[in-house]
Amino acid sequence: MDNPVVVVGGAGRVGRLIAQRLLDRGERVWAIGRTDRSDRWPLPPGVGFSQGDVRVPHTLAGPLGTCSALVYCVEPGTDEDGPNRPETTMYQGVRNVLAAATADGGRPHVVLVSQLHVTHRGHPLNAYGRLLDWRRAGEEAVRGSGLPYTVVRPGWLVDDQSAGERVRLEQGDRGIGLVSRTDAAEACVRALYAEAARGVTFELFNEPGAPLADWGRAFAELEPDRVAVA
Ligand SMILES: NC(=O)c1ccc[n+]([C@@H]2O[C@H](COP(=O)([O-])OP(=O)(O)OC[C@H]3O[C@@H](n4cnc5c(N)ncnc54)[C@H](OP(=O)(O)O)[C@@H]3O)[C@@H](O)[C@H]2O)c1
Repeated sequence: MDNPVVVVGGAGRVGRLIAQRLLDRGERVWAIGRTDRSDRWPLPPGVGFSQGDVRVPHTLAGPLGTCSALVYCVEPGTDEDGPNRPETTMYQGVRNVLAAATADGGRPHVVLVSQLHVTHRGHPLNAYGRLLDWRRAGEEAVRGSGLPYTVVRPGWLVDDQSAGERVRLEQGDRGIGLVSRTDAAEACVRALYAEAARGVTFELFNEPGAPLADWGRAFAELEPDRVAVA
């Protein structure tokens, strides 16, 4: 890509896997987060770090303003009220990042990491500050942004392939299952290079079977989003 790729939440577990894959493809990569988490896991060498809090717009100036693409993989706060409620990170934070990335006329491809069950309003997770409602509002902000985008809804994230080596892409938010952080990261990166992954929302699960050989074909089999997605 002509300009760097920014991974918002790039020092997190999925984020650093995304950053490494992008580096491996020869991209310049910046991670944004409140901390670089180097006390626990160092960022891959070569990844720039820019300190920023998605809830605080003025902290987002910098690499976002000139990026070719961005991936948003921020973990939500789950408080009922106050600055760590999901609204701040899953909705306002998404809007703040979109605003920072387009302020100077940029039109990056945006990959948003959401989650399974985001349309299930009665799900117990929604008791945590309406987490699922705000995630869905964040999705809608991305789908309505006019930018090229992909919304990835991983199943429950795990750090192994215990649910299988194959990935399954679904739509309609009816499925349930596990997916490895490795495959969630792979889906985000593949989406940035596939024309067919633009303008789609999909769930992602592992299942027994051979690893997916043709991501482009899997993306092409998805239905493009209409304005709002159930
Ligand atoms: N757990 C699951 O089963 C599951 C299922 C589906 C989807 N997901 C979603 O998948 C995504 C990636 O998950 P993960 O396991 O990689 O999470 P993670 O390891 O906790 O990483 C999340 C990243 O978000 C950053 N972050 C949190 N609040 C922030 C803020 N206000 N401003 C800037 N950065 C902030 C964190 O860095 P700092 O704290 O240093 O800022 C961290 O780098 C998350 O959105 C998660 O909710 C999770």
